[in-house]
Amino acid sequence: MTGSGGILAGLNGRAAALSRVLEAILSEDRDLLGEISLYSLYGGGKWLRPLVYSLAWELLGGEPGDPVMRGASVFEIIHMASLLHDDIVDSSDTRRGRRAAHLQFGVPEAVLAGDYLVAKAARLSLEWESLETFDLITEVIRELSYGELYQLKARRDPDLSRGDYHGIVRRKTAALLSAAAETPAVIRGASAELRQALRSYGLRYGTSFQIADDVLDYSGEAGALGKPVLKDLDEGRITLPLILARDSLPPKKAARLRDLAARCERTEDERAEVLSLVGEGGGIEKARKEAADWAEEAAAALDAFPASGASDFLKRLALLNSSREF
Ligand code: FPP
Ligand code: MG
Repeated sequence: MTGSGGILAGLNGRAAALSRVLEAILSEDRDLLGEISLYSLYGGGKWLRPLVYSLAWELLGGEPGDPVMRGASVFEIIHMASLLHDDIVDSSDTRRGRRAAHLQFGVPEAVLAGDYLVAKAARLSLEWESLETFDLITEVIRELSYGELYQLKARRDPDLSRGDYHGIVRRKTAALLSAAAETPAVIRGASAELRQALRSYGLRYGTSFQIADDVLDYSGEAGALGKPVLKDLDEGRITLPLILARDSLPPKKAARLRDLAARCERTEDERAEVLSLVGEGGGIEKARKEAADWAEEAAAALDAFPASGASDFLKRLALLNSSREF
């Protein structure tokens, strides 16, 4: 396998092509909805979903290049739409260190820009001329909606089960990565076995990615990434480090952690107590281990393919992300 320097250089080449294509697509309408879309695009992002799409495409023997990135854009545009709406649902003030679009342009305008982007992605996906891929795209938008709804219902629920947490993660994050990995298999007419391998890769990688992201909320590294520590908890999201700590701590401490987690606000001392209880219950370590296990399983799913540069990239992408080395 290549070292992390190698993978980053390779991904950067693809990111440049993707950036060109996304900018062209989102510049088509020179009006407010186009402006909000470009504002979201220029906010940056890791572009994991389109990268997974383009690498899966290459894994199946397709040529890299701008035409592939047009298909890959479908997944980033859906993701951007979901984040525009999510920041309203979560009342988030910032996204990637900048003012959230609903504060910059207004809530109705940001809602409409999200709708507009969904329509844009659906129309782009028609270029595949396949009902099967249209089915995947519309199904994943449905999954995202349920993921967000279930997350909303679970807000500040200190008893959220591990299974329900995983149900949310599968819908809100893993489903879109899975569709991004699976769609090239449909377009290129891959066997059922290879299609399933790519779908599994996306689901497992997505799960690993979300758990690793949830760990950052507690591990103190979140600040370095432009996201305040305990932001998820402050917005009411109960995530795996807290769940695992809660289920390992002795009853009195677990009850205290549940009580603190259920509150709308916490003092500085209470925030420190949450971090200390989650640490004491081994929540960060155990969740990190779980993220790493999902990443290993994601990489293993690609053993269905012969070794190649693309499979190497995809495996590294999953493994590096679970350890958040980039
Ligand atoms: C971010 O979660 C939220 C999502 C990835 C899914 C959001 C889905 C919807 C709003 C449903 C509607 C979908 C479309 C396509 C319009 P988070 O709040 O945990 O992450 P964050 O910290 O980045 O905000
Ligand atoms: Mg959010």
